[in-house]
Amino acid sequence: MKMWGGRFRQAVDPEFERWQSSFDFDRRLLSYELAASGAHARALKNAGIVASEELIAILQGLEQIAAAAASSPNFLQDEEAEDVHHFVQKRLAALIGEVAYKLHSGRSRNEQIATDLRLYVRAGIDQMQNDLAAWLDVLLERAEQAENAVMPAYTHLQRAEPVLVAHYLLAYVEMFLRDSERLTDCRKRLNLCPLGSGAVAGATIGLDRHAMAAELGFSAPTANSIDATSDRDFVLEFVHALSLIGLHLSRWAEEMILFSSEEFGFVQLPEAYSTGSSAMPQKKNPDLLELARGKVARVIGAANTLMIVIKGLPLAYNKDLQETQEPLFDAVATISGLLPLVSAWMKAAEFKYGRMRDAAEAGFMNAWAAATYLVNRGVPSRLAHEKIGKAVQMCLERNCELKDLPSADLQALTPAFDQGFCASLSLPSVLAIHDVPGGTAPARVRQAIGAARKKIEALHEEVHAHA
Ligand code: ARG
Repeated sequence: MKMWGGRFRQAVDPEFERWQSSFDFDRRLLSYELAASGAHARALKNAGIVASEELIAILQGLEQIAAAAASSPNFLQDEEAEDVHHFVQKRLAALIGEVAYKLHSGRSRNEQIATDLRLYVRAGIDQMQNDLAAWLDVLLERAEQAENAVMPAYTHLQRAEPVLVAHYLLAYVEMFLRDSERLTDCRKRLNLCPLGSGAVAGATIGLDRHAMAAELGFSAPTANSIDATSDRDFVLEFVHALSLIGLHLSRWAEEMILFSSEEFGFVQLPEAYSTGSSAMPQKKNPDLLELARGKVARVIGAANTLMIVIKGLPLAYNKDLQETQEPLFDAVATISGLLPLVSAWMKAAEFKYGRMRDAAEAGFMNAWAAATYLVNRGVPSRLAHEKIGKAVQMCLERNCELKDLPSADLQALTPAFDQGFCASLSLPSVLAIHDVPGGTAPARVRQAIGAARKKIEALHEEVHAHA
């Protein structure tokens, strides 16, 4: 039996019927639909609409549907089901007869889909946090392993200053910790229960909305039935949070691609996650990284699609909202497919510390430290900058580094240069002057590793609490 049809004289065009069906994709909401239906059935019992035996029959029927779906994928083959809500009604009627039709008392699919989607996004967030925590573990582990290894840091993709490799990796830790906070925040805001909102004006039966919310693990019922049935902000927020995760993964992938090129040579591609060329026998290509970078486009596309679907919609429910599901599912599949793979890649990749160190020692990356040496001797900063600039110019002409300049030439530039200058140019001295919280001085980086470890542990605890 359809979920509607009494007022229709003509049959629905079969092509239109197939085209408008969402069951192909909303079947993945089945477990949430069953859970929400169970909560609604209990509320109906307490409101005196279904009798105790009827409630038992309904709950057993819902359980049987869950079991059948879990044991045989064919069970979900249903050409006639309009959507997951219709599917459950049909199957329940087949199992328990007409009592099944009592389940829809006082409710609307508008509140059901809003509830199912909130439950789906909540579970998606929990899964994502778990994967993020594992990825953060790997980044932190690599930072710890790097000890005092150094590399150049870049601005404008030009060598700028030497930093600890650990400091560089912690930059990504910060990005992904922010991503995880965004998910935590989104979860809090979405955790309200639309059940009892009806089609738009509120349920037509005095249902205990607090009990339904509590049964499904929501913190409270939603406050306004019009908003609750038309709101997809939580989908948008989640997919935007996923887009940011994607952007960060994509920037990381881009850097690893660059670093693994012959020109940089900082990273050796792990063979298990690379591919060869069908034409050029010598090649090893960073396909995992390239696909990571490429696939993120889908997530950003999904975020855009969602905004465009919502932007012109009048209140409250409109069928357009069905179009918010596929972009959501695709964004979740894309990011949750990526996170375990980038973690595995990062574990397997080999860092070429020697190459990184050579790169950090050449190219005047100690120039700012050299200017700071003069500033500490009372030379005004602007003038110190100018003097070191001139010294660099001399080096370029003589094809040497600052430490190689004879002291007579330096003294000619300013008498402020004296014995300690050469020592101030060494890699350890250059790192040590960045001695501020958040800077690359080794002691600060060790503190930063400790602080990051605490935050990642807290995330693991949060994941555990929601499991
Ligand atoms: N499949 C629909 C969706 O995803 C369910 C809600 C249908 N509601 C309605 N009034 N036709 O939006």
